[in-house]
Amino acid sequence: MELDDRTLTSVAAYDEYARAYQESLRLRRPVADVRRFADLATRGDLVLDAGCGPANDLRLLRDAGVHPVGVDLSLGALREARMLLPRHPLVQAPFHALPFRPRSFGGLWLSGTFNHLPRAAWRPTFARLLDLLDRGPVYLAVYRGDRDLAEVEHPVLGTVHDSEASDAEVEALLASHGVKDLTVEIRPDPILDRRRPWVVALGTFER
Ligand SMILES: C[S@@+](CC[C@H](N)C(=O)[O-])C[C@H]1O[C@@H](n2cnc3c(N)ncnc32)[C@H](O)[C@@H]1O
Repeated sequence: MELDDRTLTSVAAYDEYARAYQESLRLRRPVADVRRFADLATRGDLVLDAGCGPANDLRLLRDAGVHPVGVDLSLGALREARMLLPRHPLVQAPFHALPFRPRSFGGLWLSGTFNHLPRAAWRPTFARLLDLLDRGPVYLAVYRGDRDLAEVEHPVLGTVHDSEASDAEVEALLASHGVKDLTVEIRPDPILDRRRPWVVALGTFER
């Protein structure tokens, strides 16, 4: 599977600005969501943070009592993550070719994971990620809207290409893959506030 050039351009922005991106978000993380997610997981389980970036949430997840594994395509982001977490499992790989066996994880944390993928890739990518999950909580946070890899000037990353979804689309994506007990909420962006709303969903998956 080939990655869209616009996805690769966005990943390159994380390579270049990983530290600034990490710093800009350090005090603006979804701490309550991490706790709710961890409460739905089994203590000590491995959970997958796909698109972990420079470890914005890995430490929070670890401190909440689960064992997160971070994956990202951006080596620059993973280098920053490594500085925060010297002995933590971090893997550089694209979402469509993750080196894990099916049903390896007890939770799936997807914060901004789909932001830079074409909308047509969301459903197959979500299905692949879900194959890696045995059971447990599924968290998905995406930009709210209907744009598909639209060019955006991000205050920290520069020019990137973002995709968005409506709350109904997010709910349908998760529900149609068997994610249950869903809550779907609209939240302000941690940097851009209400000018850039997010859709945030949390549910549980059982086989
Ligand atoms: C919006 S950032 C989210 C970072 C972090 N989860 C957070 O919430 O701040 C999206 C991340 O996904 C990564 N990414 C984008 N497309 C990817 C792909 N196809 N495979 C692996 N990682 C990808 C980017 O490098 C970036 O670190």
